Amino acid sequence: MRHLIDIQDLSTQEIDELIQVALDIIADPAKYSEVCKGKKLATLFFEPSTRTRLSFEAAMLELGGNVIGFSEASSSSAAKGESVADTAKIISCYADIIAMRHPKEGAPYVASINSTIPVINAGDGGHCHPTQTLTDLLTIYREKGRLDNLTIGFCGDLKYGRTVHSLINALSRYANIKIVLISPEELRLPGYMRYEVLDKLGMEYVETPNLESALGELDVLYMTRIQRERFTDPAEYERLKNSYVLDLEKLESAKKDLSILHPLPRVNEIRVNVDKDPRACYFTQALNGKYIRMALILRLLEEVNKTSVHEEEDLIVGELQCENPKCITSCEQELEHVFRVVDREHGICRCIYCESKQIKK
Ligand code: CP
Repeated sequence: MRHLIDIQDLSTQEIDELIQVALDIIADPAKYSEVCKGKKLATLFFEPSTRTRLSFEAAMLELGGNVIGFSEASSSSAAKGESVADTAKIISCYADIIAMRHPKEGAPYVASINSTIPVINAGDGGHCHPTQTLTDLLTIYREKGRLDNLTIGFCGDLKYGRTVHSLINALSRYANIKIVLISPEELRLPGYMRYEVLDKLGMEYVETPNLESALGELDVLYMTRIQRERFTDPAEYERLKNSYVLDLEKLESAKKDLSILHPLPRVNEIRVNVDKDPRACYFTQALNGKYIRMALILRLLEEVNKTSVHEEEDLIVGELQCENPKCITSCEQELEHVFRVVDREHGICRCIYCESKQIKK
């Protein structure tokens, strides 16, 4: 059974193939209009969403399939205390594939190990949002005609922005990518991303708090929202919420063929009059989300009888406790605490659900 929990679950070849299928769907949608006839997608959304849920649903309907599901936890039996594992077992009786969004990190992974149908992570807290990454990659490919040899600026909330972390991870596979990290000091890209991804893979990157000075060299600008819901201190959010506002004046120094992306929703970080600028790609990006999700649903349903080949893992069961308050283990007491050993010499382990780091002494 294949699932998509993290963008790392896909090889570079698989990502490139998904992009090619999405391009074929765009070119000839009629060819795909009945390919999922008789199949059902269950959208299990325990957290708000506009684009991800509705683009998944539109994707399945345009493939000729049907959709069931819920859009808030309060209308499911989660409100009565049902676990994610039990929910996944039940939905496996009713549908052919699941797309799940959940505020707790690792919840879709728990669903995947308890499900007999493919599970797609549609966003788990601040952890992963792999279908947004596929959407971003398709958009960059359609705008630029390539995924290599690009200078890409990420601006805004680089600390909590899960879409930024996933996209940097995905871009690290392509040649000659230069990353420009534009954020206030308080919202810098987390250390583990800088040391374990950018430094380890030898990716070229610079950090700056100044959007104006960075704009001129960018091929792609990936704007992000300052995420109020991830702040523990509301005063800190108030202080940082207007850090960056992209307007037409600032864009005067940008390249004529700059592509401006944003995973959306936006608050005020891109002025509305930028929408008419030909460099604004964020609404096309949302449309691309439907096409790439069509390609993904098709692929996972085709591979439903394939068994995933997992490398032998070095696991620690029951010895360490995950301390991340946003991990699914923090609210589902029955879950066993399991850690993957990533560096035995230094005792570095990561929770298998939320990937929080712990050192085993
Ligand atoms: N980009 C994104 O995930 O949007 P929604 O929260 O509306 O799904």
